[in-house]
Amino acid sequence: MKNLRSLEKKELEELLKGYNQRLNELKALNLKLDLSRGKPDKNQLDLGVNILDAVNAQSDFSSENGMDTRNYGALEGIPEARRLMGEMLGVKEENVLVGGNSSLNLMYDSLMRAMVFGVAGCTPMLRQEKRKFLCPAPGYDRHFLITQDLGFELIPVKMTEDGPDMDEVERLVQDETVKGIWCVPQYANPTGCVYSDETVKRFARLSPAAKDFRIYWDNAYCVHFLYREEHKPLLNILEECEKAGNPDLVYEFTSTSKISFAGGGISCMASSVANIKDAVKHMKFQTIGHDKVNQLRHVRYFKNLDGIMAHMEKQAKLLRPKFETVLRMFDEAFEGEEICSYTRPLGGYFISFQAMNGCAKAIVEACKQAGVTLTNAGATYPYGIDPNDSNIRIAPTFATEENITTAVEIFCICTHVVTIEKLLSE
Ligand SMILES: Cc1ncc(COP(=O)(O)O)c(C=O)c1O
Repeated sequence: MKNLRSLEKKELEELLKGYNQRLNELKALNLKLDLSRGKPDKNQLDLGVNILDAVNAQSDFSSENGMDTRNYGALEGIPEARRLMGEMLGVKEENVLVGGNSSLNLMYDSLMRAMVFGVAGCTPMLRQEKRKFLCPAPGYDRHFLITQDLGFELIPVKMTEDGPDMDEVERLVQDETVKGIWCVPQYANPTGCVYSDETVKRFARLSPAAKDFRIYWDNAYCVHFLYREEHKPLLNILEECEKAGNPDLVYEFTSTSKISFAGGGISCMASSVANIKDAVKHMKFQTIGHDKVNQLRHVRYFKNLDGIMAHMEKQAKLLRPKFETVLRMFDEAFEGEEICSYTRPLGGYFISFQAMNGCAKAIVEACKQAGVTLTNAGATYPYGIDPNDSNIRIAPTFATEENITTAVEIFCICTHVVTIEKLLSE
């Protein structure tokens, strides 16, 4: 295939005719396909179904410190669950607070405490007239929406292959009204990038003007490799912050939502002992304790990090073919055309697609007309506005392989139709 930009008008029109013909055939099938959901599919969830039997009516319900997990107490989580989550992040038990079934909930609560009670003795953010939050983009829409809902001004930061543009971050944190940054450091949502060691070190060495600035380090995909041999644990942000003399700078989060059950897993926040104590100081009025039976279930089933990695290997076996199908079809459809680019993630849940500028919304709409739902164009940017109207997040995990094949064919055709129409209009 020749570079589309170098084709004559007539050649483009001829191509467009062919794509439209095939698109009409596919439309006539009245399909209902979905590549928008970053959710585990049923087979992934089935892999962990025996977790439910790891604690049953005949079980000893005691945690290792003798506490009956069915009863109230242990706000920070049972010791063995704190240790298991700590192993995933490479941090000690004392630095971990185990929450309920959702890490997003822990992030939200951390920000609410910052709003209402303040951070590090500073004025509660609710009473600070101006507050801004850094949002590496493309990024995770739910992060952006939390801070938008809480009245922060969202400041986009460019993403590179090594993580957020750190020159930009270092410059922006000189503004005292900048109170935090969202990060997904491993297999980022949606670009799949893994922050380089240098990026992690620069984060740890940040010297923000605001004393109440915190890094929200959402390590949601810390063990979610597609290719185990290529999986390299991220540099440990808590250790790096400690070394840099910034022990309280970061709140780290993760959960087993995409390990065991999305909705029925366990979550955690990891931070300095001082930050954990500070969180517990307020959290103790919010709940008497999270679901410790579920914590026990998870520990008895997975046992340790090796158990988790072995489980993730089984998940990777289910996910690899889906990602590889999407990428093979993209390679075949777009080879040599120079009209788009896409990521080749080594883990996580997404492929990030860059269409020609000004085409993303129209592609998503064209797909919708043909029966394929995609994440809204722009959703990966603060306020839902992609300045280049170019990024589309592809989520291959939830659909069956057969559905993926048809959905991707439609996506590629719609991309061609929209792009050629744009080239013809220029
Ligand atoms: C980056 C990221 N963080 C957090 C979540 C949600 O995590 P949880 O289920 O623990 O609330 C997701 C879900 O897609 C995610 O992609």
